[in-house]
Amino acid sequence: MKSGDTGGSKPGGSAPDQPLMAGGYAGWMAPGLVGSVGTCLIAGCGYTGTRLARRLLGQRPVLALVRSAASLAVLAREGISAVPADLDGGSAFPVPPDLAAVIYLAPPAGPDGEDRRFARFLAALGEARPQVLVYVSTTGVYGDTGGVAVDEAAPTAPAEERARQRLHAEDQARRWCEARGARCVILRVAAIYGPHRLPLDRLRRGEPVLRAEDSGPGNRIHVDDLVAACLAALARPGAGVVNVADGCPESMAAFTARVAALAGLPAPRKITWAEAQDTLSPGLLAFLRESRRVLNPRLVRELGLTPRGPEAGIRDSLREMGLPVAGG
Ligand SMILES: NC(=O)c1ccc[n+]([C@@H]2O[C@H](COP(=O)([O-])OP(=O)(O)OC[C@H]3O[C@@H](n4cnc5c(N)ncnc54)[C@H](OP(=O)(O)O)[C@@H]3O)[C@@H](O)[C@H]2O)c1
Repeated sequence: MKSGDTGGSKPGGSAPDQPLMAGGYAGWMAPGLVGSVGTCLIAGCGYTGTRLARRLLGQRPVLALVRSAASLAVLAREGISAVPADLDGGSAFPVPPDLAAVIYLAPPAGPDGEDRRFARFLAALGEARPQVLVYVSTTGVYGDTGGVAVDEAAPTAPAEERARQRLHAEDQARRWCEARGARCVILRVAAIYGPHRLPLDRLRRGEPVLRAEDSGPGNRIHVDDLVAACLAALARPGAGVVNVADGCPESMAAFTARVAALAGLPAPRKITWAEAQDTLSPGLLAFLRESRRVLNPRLVRELGLTPRGPEAGIRDSLREMGLPVAGG
């Protein structure tokens, strides 16, 4: 795995950001947000959104938006209020009259490098004026830098269609917020891993990995550190782009071998790029073709987070799954 899922639209530099305020995150509450009773709408409440909703429950009203009945049932079991709405199918959803915050976690969809799904979502919000919109994007918007480091000021150069859709969505988020005087935070997220999101099945099936010499560094984030970034983005008064990566890039081969060692599974066989052409899926090959090293200065300094590294993150994930961890 490398950086975030691929995604985004308009090549070029990042829009200038408002400074995020420095200082400690713990205990700080944004005016009118934490402490207010305004509802937080989590659109695309899947793997990450459900864990985020759990953290918000009890602090403030939460409304989750999902597409499928299956996801609705999962959320209902957790006591999370949710409504079904297919943003591609034109189905409406109720906009809470006290809407204070929106976190958008649905993937992009639309032709010509545009995220029409997000456009429909924003249109469906009508005249609502939340204080903050957190748009969850991807580090894929930086494109392939050949392993060169990227911080939030790096130019965007999305190569894949999905990355172009992402960049289009980021622009929509900024414009929508500007028109309403809302704070806009764009989280550019690396590959998400965590409990039930580890390559355990691939390891058990004995699938090979591309050897480190033939791939660039990959960038990741543990799901609970992404959740912490969402919470900090809600609570802090800043705006703009924040890279959400753990700052410990390593190749897919290295990460997978680490998972194998900690889970007590055999290390995966390593294959060359030439062998990978016949073995790995086209999607994975496209993903592995891009290489960059994602820096996270704003996450650390301005959102006040120190994300866990891969060793700790894999251990935490295995423990939560109730699996034994080699070495305790
Ligand atoms: N996975 C990665 O490594 C990675 C990396 C960077 C960024 N991201 C992005 O980060 C975000 C969160 O990731 P995740 O893994 O938590 O996502 P996830 O589990 O796949 O959840 C996505 C959510 O979006 C909803 N959704 C999808 N299509 C929809 C539609 N047409 N109308 C309404 N809702 C729709 C899904 O609803 P149903 O469950 O009902 O279908 C689901 O609740 C996503 O945007 C993802 O693309 C992911």
